[in-house]
Amino acid sequence: MNRSIETGVFIPTGRNGWIHSVNAPDTPGTFDHVLQVVQAAEAGGFDFVLSPGIWRGRKGPARHWMDSVESITTTAALLQATSRIGVYGTVHVTVFPPATIAKMMSTLDQIGPGRTGLNLVTGSSYLDLAHVGLWNSELDHDERYDLAEEWVAVAKRLWTEDAVTHHGKFFETADATMGPKPSRLPPLLNAGASQRGFRFAAENCDVALVTGSDSLASLETVARCRKMAEDMGNPSLKIFAAPVLVPGKSDQDARSRVEHFDAGVDVECLADIAAGYERNPNTTQVSKESTTFTSGETSAISPGSLVGSPETLARRLATMVNEGGIDGFMFIVPDYLTDLDVIAAEVLPRLAEHGITCRDGATVGR
Ligand SMILES: Cc1cc2nc3c(=O)[nH]c(=O)nc-3n(C[C@H](O)[C@H](O)[C@H](O)COP(=O)(O)O)c2cc1C
Repeated sequence: MNRSIETGVFIPTGRNGWIHSVNAPDTPGTFDHVLQVVQAAEAGGFDFVLSPGIWRGRKGPARHWMDSVESITTTAALLQATSRIGVYGTVHVTVFPPATIAKMMSTLDQIGPGRTGLNLVTGSSYLDLAHVGLWNSELDHDERYDLAEEWVAVAKRLWTEDAVTHHGKFFETADATMGPKPSRLPPLLNAGASQRGFRFAAENCDVALVTGSDSLASLETVARCRKMAEDMGNPSLKIFAAPVLVPGKSDQDARSRVEHFDAGVDVECLADIAAGYERNPNTTQVSKESTTFTSGETSAISPGSLVGSPETLARRLATMVNEGGIDGFMFIVPDYLTDLDVIAAEVLPRLAEHGITCRDGATVGR
């Protein structure tokens, strides 16, 4: 069977992207760099880019994420600077009320009609939010998802109804008007890894983002998510994976790149990420996928990263699609200015050999 997938890029709005090493490729976490990356992604034919919601840099010599640009304001500028590609942002629903973001999204849709979307996160790292006074200690893990559910309900009503009166547990509106309406409902994404988080995605969003690779365990996780989405009445929920890809001229060349990153691994940074989750008062409710760094991980790249030649990467991505049923990818790479070109020119075209097509212009909007 021929399968069509969507391809996106998780863009490095924070210093060093997702490589926790003093040997990370030069990734300054500035708007100028992000703009170059996104223009390259558009030229390369990717369907969308998504920026993360970053509030805090990490301790350690790599100064990981110590410089970063804010997601929604960056989205506005990127939409203006591009013409085709989808540009999605991330917000913490515990930080911004739905009316604020609904209004911003309507405005973003004016700047890039039909091209924006939203990744909704509830926030699991205490340190990420507490240091700027944005951690809400009154809510436990599952209540944050209860809030997220009400948040989505209010935002969707503001995007579609003339006057919205809402008296909920978390939010209030009184005869609220908001125009102009967006040209389409912005696609909503979520990366909750817990049971409660996945239920939120299945019941309220268009896309569930998962980490993972082509390992049997990852493929089984995706199959379980697919079954849950069907049982929850949203069989059309798309499941996108967000793999780290490290391409090289050969498998050995790619492995050498990882060895170089690992030689400069910033263990202080990894410990700081772990501390962020450990300080979460509901730490036992945080899924193990989110706390990978607490498991004594000492590599500069995430476990399960795909490392190899373009042929190897294409084969392994194809396994995730053909055996795991992945609907799309949001790629993370070490050096966005060179690696994205390799993915676009040498990896994605090889997916056709495995019966997979991409770049057909399909979008994630309903
Ligand atoms: C691909 C991906 C992107 C994510 N982006 C962000 C982000 O931008 N900001 C953030 O605070 N958390 C982000 N997260 C974390 C998740 O939203 C979520 O908080 C975490 O996986 C914990 O899920 P859980 O609460 O269901 O256990 C991301 C996770 C993944 C897998």
